Amino acid sequence: MYVKASAILLLLFSCCSNCRAQSAVIVQPSEKPEITTPKSMSTSTTIGSNTTTTPKPLPTTTHRPQPFPAPSTGIWNSSCIALRMAAQLNLTYETKDGKVATALYNIPSDAKVAGDDCNSETIQRIALNWGPAQTPASLAMQFDKKNMSIVLSMIKINLPITGDNFPDAKDNETVQLLHWGYELRTPNNNSYHCTRDQHFNLTETIQDTEVVGCISIGKVQVEAFRSKDKDFSTVYDCDSSGTSNVVAIAVGVSLIALICIVLISYLCARRSTARGYLSF
Ligand SMILES: *[C@@H]1O[C@H](CO)[C@@H](O)[C@H](O)[C@H]1NC(C)=O
Ligand SMILES: *[C@@H]1O[C@H](CO)[C@@H](O)[C@H](O)[C@H]1NC(C)=O
Ligand SMILES: *[C@@H]1O[C@H](CO)[C@@H](O)[C@H](O)[C@H]1NC(C)=O
Ligand SMILES: *[C@@H]1O[C@H](CO)[C@@H](O)[C@H](O)[C@H]1NC(C)=O
Ligand SMILES: *[C@@H]1O[C@H](CO)[C@@H](O)[C@H](O)[C@H]1NC(C)=O
Ligand SMILES: *[C@@H]1O[C@H](CO)[C@@H](O)[C@H](O)[C@H]1NC(C)=O
Ligand SMILES: *[C@@H]1O[C@H](CO)[C@@H](O)[C@H](O)[C@H]1NC(C)=O
Repeated sequence: MYVKASAILLLLFSCCSNCRAQSAVIVQPSEKPEITTPKSMSTSTTIGSNTTTTPKPLPTTTHRPQPFPAPSTGIWNSSCIALRMAAQLNLTYETKDGKVATALYNIPSDAKVAGDDCNSETIQRIALNWGPAQTPASLAMQFDKKNMSIVLSMIKINLPITGDNFPDAKDNETVQLLHWGYELRTPNNNSYHCTRDQHFNLTETIQDTEVVGCISIGKVQVEAFRSKDKDFSTVYDCDSSGTSNVVAIAVGVSLIALICIVLISYLCARRSTARGYLSF
């Protein structure tokens, strides 16, 4: 009887497509744990949804402080650099009573191009300034051309801590904020474009490791080492290039993982079915 049955089964397996017949066989031994897992999952999800739905609206409505206005977008062109961005600082400053306070500050979009440095083939700079003549504020950016690409290598800000943005600020306080790095990297002869905000840490000096603030740069399109009076070159977008690669890599890795899992379970299934026949 058993021999006949197993012989029929063998025939069936060889006739039908291997995968289907075998996967149907695999399901049977794993049925018991499968039944228990959905039960525990369904109970935990109902508890989760019940508890999370009630507290969620409360913190979002009550804990929001009055929002600080978003920075407006400025356009600053020099003969070699075209720059458009909306920039905001988040910085710390000293108060009259010696405490450290945090404030936001928007780089005004009506800041003027105060100077540029266009002579070098490898380093170019643009400087903006704004504010009253007695207490001028400034922002400078340096772009480096190397290795077939252009990077923002330095941001330097000098900001007098005066006005409504900085309540109780110590008298005659001016902060210097610096960032060194390789940011906004773009291939030669392209303009860098990025809509989302990017945050760069700021320190007071180059040697400093203590972060005293950060600058957030959004809605940016910038091109250094450009030819005079030309419009922005081909756009190199931070997201269309950067994240799509990340997504592609992630998809590739998960596909490979999936293939491995399928292969392993297929091999295991073949073994277990083979053992099953032996025990019969
Ligand atoms: C949440 O659970 C309570 C009791 O535990 C129940 O009375 C209520 O109907 C549940 N709410 C929802 C949305 O499931
Ligand atoms: C400003 O920076 C401080 C310190 O890093 C941080 O706690 C705060 O959330 C920041 N504020 C904003 C609006 O980003
Ligand atoms: C130059 O760029 C290539 C490609 O982007 C990169 O692989 C290489 O590491 C870079 N070299 C240096 C010195 O930055
Ligand atoms: C701040 O600067 C002004 C003008 O530069 C000067 O007259 C004043 O004495 C300074 N105050 C302090 C506390 O240093
Ligand atoms: C970039 O532009 C310069 C000047 O317009 C040109 O000489 C150079 O060949 C261009 N490079 C590439 C890689 O297109
Ligand atoms: C910026 O500074 C914060 C601490 O203030 C640190 O946690 C973070 O890693 C820094 N980011 C970068 C890119 O260095
Ligand atoms: C600045 O330069 C860019 C790129 O060349 C151009 O599209 C824009 O019209 C210029 N803006 C001003 C105000 O000159």
